[in-house]
This record gives sequence, C-alpha cells and structure tokens, in this order.
Amino acid sequence: MDFDAMFNAQLDALKEEGNYRIFAELERECGAFPQARSHDADAPDKVTVWCSNDYLGMGQNEVVRQAMKDAIDRCGTGAGGTRNISGTARHHVALEHELADLHGKEAALLFTSGYVSNWAALSTLGARLPDAVILSDALNHASMIEGMRHARCQKVIWKHNDPEDLDRKLAALPANAPKIVAFESVYSMDGDICPMEEIVEVAEKHGAMTYLDEVHAVGLYGPRGGGVSEERGLAHRIDLIEGTLGKAYGCVGGYITGSAALCDFIRSFASGFIFTTALPPAVAAAAQASIRHLKTSDAERRQQRRQVAQLRAKLDARGIPHLDNPSHIIPVMIKDPVKCRQLADILMRDYGIYVQPINYPTVPKGTERLRFTPGPLHTDADIDHLVEALTVLWKQCAIAHAVA
Ligand SMILES: Cc1ncc(COP(=O)(O)O)c(C=O)c1O
Repeated sequence: MDFDAMFNAQLDALKEEGNYRIFAELERECGAFPQARSHDADAPDKVTVWCSNDYLGMGQNEVVRQAMKDAIDRCGTGAGGTRNISGTARHHVALEHELADLHGKEAALLFTSGYVSNWAALSTLGARLPDAVILSDALNHASMIEGMRHARCQKVIWKHNDPEDLDRKLAALPANAPKIVAFESVYSMDGDICPMEEIVEVAEKHGAMTYLDEVHAVGLYGPRGGGVSEERGLAHRIDLIEGTLGKAYGCVGGYITGSAALCDFIRSFASGFIFTTALPPAVAAAAQASIRHLKTSDAERRQQRRQVAQLRAKLDARGIPHLDNPSHIIPVMIKDPVKCRQLADILMRDYGIYVQPINYPTVPKGTERLRFTPGPLHTDADIDHLVEALTVLWKQCAIAHAVA
C-alpha cells in the first residue's frame, strides 16, 4: 500500500481549497516581545507578532522567568513521572492552591494543557455520572467537543449564547438526569462574551451543573484576573471553572477548579490526568508567579485595554471592518481562505507584521479572518504601522468593499 500517496491526496485537497497550514518559524525575543526574529526566507528578519495568545506578554515577565529559572536550578527539568507515581512536586500543589484561590473554589487540578483539561474533565463527567446529559453551546472549543465525544453520553447542542434555547432544551430532559451545561466566557474567534448570568440562572432553575471554559479570559478580566466570572461576581455560582496557563499567564498547562469532591473525582477517574507525566515543576512555579503577579497588578490589563481600544478606533477611522465585540480580540473578516492567506503573506513579507490567517477548520468556511490581539507591549507606533499597512492593502485588494 502506498500510504504516502493516500496522505498526499488529502493534503493536496487541503491545498486546493486554501486551507493548508503553513507555520511561521519565529524566535521570540525576550525583552522585546511582541517583536520576534523570523526564520522564514521571504519575511524580514524582525517581525511584530499580532496574533499571540500570550495576551499580556507574561511569557517574558522578569518575575515569571526568574521563578522558572530558580525552580530549574533547585529541582531540574522534568517532573519525572505521573502525579501518582513520583511526579507530584511541591510546586504543583502550591499552584493548585493558587488557582483554587483565584476562582474562590475549594480545590483545583492541573493538567498538561487546557485542551487536555477540557477533554479529561468532560469525558469523565459524562462517562461516569449515570445517565448524564451534556448541554453544549454550539460554538464550544474542539477540546470540549472531543471530551463530550469520548464521554459517549447524551449530548444536546444549544444555540450559541442563547439562554432561552438552553432553557427549552433543559426542560425537555428527564428531571432526574444529571445535566451539565458547558460553555465559554470569551469565544476566541469572534471575541464575543457569553450572557453568563442568564445562563447560570437557567442552569440553576433546572438543577444543572455549570462547566465554564475561561481559557481566553483568565488573567485578563476581573480585578484579580479570575476571568469574566470574577468580573461579574458569578464565580461562586459556577460549579467548574476551567482555564489555561498557556495564554495570558505566558506558560503552559491547564486546570479545573471546583469543589473538593469534584476535583478529587476527576483526579481519581480521568485517564487524561492519571496516565501522563506531570507538568515540569518549573512550569508550575512560573505559572504561580504569573498568576500571583496578575492578582495584584492591573497595569498590564489597563494598558492592554487601551491598546485594544486604540486599534479599534483607528480601524474604524480608516473604514476597515472588524467584528464588534466587548473583548480584547479584534477579528477582521476576509471570508475567503485564499485571500486571507494572501493578505497575511503580504503583511509578513512587506510590512513585517505577523498575523496568522484563521481558516477552516478553526472557523467555519466562508468566515475566514485575520485575528488581531493587541497587548500592553504593542506600542502606539506598532498600531499605526499595522493600520497603515491594512489601509494600503484594503485599497489594493478586490476584497476591499466586499467584506462586511
Ligand atoms: C476555548 C478554548 N479552550 C481550551 C483551549 C485549549 O487550551 P490550551 O491551549 O491550554 O491547550 C483553547 C485553545 O486555544 C481554547 O480556545
């Protein structure tokens, strides 16, 4: 059998429809973020990163870096095992306490990524609770969808951000079935934020458990970075809050927080927790330093909001359409995979602006976009340069007036 021919046939189809992914090879420059060195032949040596999920630049924060270096010097690199078999370090336990405190919960549980935390927690809840039904927002992240798929329990999809639809769907289920309402706070591709209070109220009315993904909100929203649930004073009404250490906290890893019984249950039954090597202790130490810093420092969040507002206003002034949303994510809709790729290529090659085209399957076909994430370390000059470049391209491209 010619397996390579089979692989290539499918890759060729991807290329033909414009959805083949090409990675930009970058070297982030510590101390100069969001500047990075590019190692691509057709890009300038130095580029400005406009699509990072290191939303606040914490990946280069002095305190965070020092915590990681100190922990490596004290404990070495890897954890050396699963949490169960020799892999639990003091740093993991301390980080779990930090996270439980962040969300005002009894306990927390670490995973190797946000993806794994969603996959492991939802699959375990759905599989282990007898007759469980998971009610999932239509636009939930792939990690939640995979978790539900693996759970093999009943799933019900409710209309995106529509508490009334959720209410109807909950009402149609048997009263005694354990129901889990799974949703996100900030949806990362459109940048919209859920009507959290209404969703919580509906879930409470039906006695359902609430499962909230705050991956694109932790560190960024709320007075201590506890996410939208903290900002809106709702954290105590949500049963499980899931988050990442890989985005605003600038490290890697994922977690859930909730009651002690809930975290112990997932710890005891989730294969995605049990059968994998724990995060390196140094990562846990760095993440804890990052969370601690953002619990008390609002400077990064304030400056980020300023730069987000500035970019939006300047795009508006030039008539460059972007999705209106209340978050830090600015999607400029292109609605064509080939044009999206071309625009990103020109921005990189001619302007040293790195923004990854967001195409299918990350977003539905026909909704391709450039997704900008201004941060506190983008300067006003960076913003002006980006807006100038987009203005020139907007005038040149045929898409200019075809996008909505
Ligand atoms: C909503 C959402 N949940 C979970 C994840 C996974 O988080 P991580 O990158 O830590 O695996 C992502 C990743 O982008 C996400 O967008």
